[in-house]
Amino acid sequence: MMTRIAFIGFGVVGQGLAEILLEQKDELKENYGFEYSVVAVSDKMKGAIYNENGLDLQKLLDVVKSTGKVDDYTEGTRGWDSLKTITETNANLIVEVSWTDIKTGEPAISHIKAAIKCHKHVVMTNKGPIALAARELLSMAKTNGVEIRFEGTVLSGTPALNLGVYNLASSKITKVAGIVNGTTNYILTEMEKGLSYEEALKQAQELGYAEADPTADVEGFDALGKIVILTNVVMGGMLTKDQVPCQGITNITSQDIQDAKQEGKRWKLIAGAELKGDGSVEAYVRPEKIPLNHPLAAVSGPINALTYTTKYLGDVTIIGPGAGREATGYALLTDILDIHRKAVR
Ligand code: HSE
Repeated sequence: MMTRIAFIGFGVVGQGLAEILLEQKDELKENYGFEYSVVAVSDKMKGAIYNENGLDLQKLLDVVKSTGKVDDYTEGTRGWDSLKTITETNANLIVEVSWTDIKTGEPAISHIKAAIKCHKHVVMTNKGPIALAARELLSMAKTNGVEIRFEGTVLSGTPALNLGVYNLASSKITKVAGIVNGTTNYILTEMEKGLSYEEALKQAQELGYAEADPTADVEGFDALGKIVILTNVVMGGMLTKDQVPCQGITNITSQDIQDAKQEGKRWKLIAGAELKGDGSVEAYVRPEKIPLNHPLAAVSGPINALTYTTKYLGDVTIIGPGAGREATGYALLTDILDIHRKAVR
């Protein structure tokens, strides 16, 4: 079965996936029987291109690299907006990588609903739709017989969500806590080395860790979206983001960081959720001073870590990249492969 892919959005993450798809084309076919064709790309800023017979992905990447425009690739129909690309192209899988709006989830929620109604699978790394509407979207997908996957919404390509949902199924997870934002962890790490907050944030943006609007990172909203996703998808919670107290790192000064160091501690932005006796789940996002001998203190730069506390295994911790072009592009590949393997089983 040929997977015909349409990209909605073609920024850092979309291009990261495209590069991995190209690099792995032969291995994916040989190892998993997975064959694909990218038929369309529609990006609000870069333009759009559709060719039902498939685009030359390397050529498209080269064109975007040199001119910044998708529609400078000429072999195909140009100018289709995201909804037309989702509904009217012959794609059977949509890669939704438009920008993240953690407050409204749009335009991604509309994109995902349109795709589901046309019986197309969706993979995404966009936290907005899953933090705000996971239940509704999953139920719509089930009714329409399609898959929606979002591994990369938490810890990018590090399989934190799949670990909770699949590998720790029925382990009785009572608590989850960790470092789930790469940008703030990078900033705190670099500030400890002597960089100013502004310099460290600029670097995090240049390295592709930060959100388009980095306020989402530094004010804690990105971590908030992730802990809501973890709570609702893994722990069966029904939290909305307004129910979670959220504090970012903007009030932490270089002096605070040096003071913590003197105390043998290190500031980390921690997101957590815990099951209460009455079955409800309480969650939070806040900076905490962690003793240097605590495992989370050693998690530095854009690396993230998440600990699941379970009844049968005790604590299970996963550590890995939480942001970045390749790491997040890879998350989408794992979702695509998962959908393919389920279809051919
Ligand atoms: N801005 C996010 C972060 C990207 O820094 O963790 C990955 O979700």
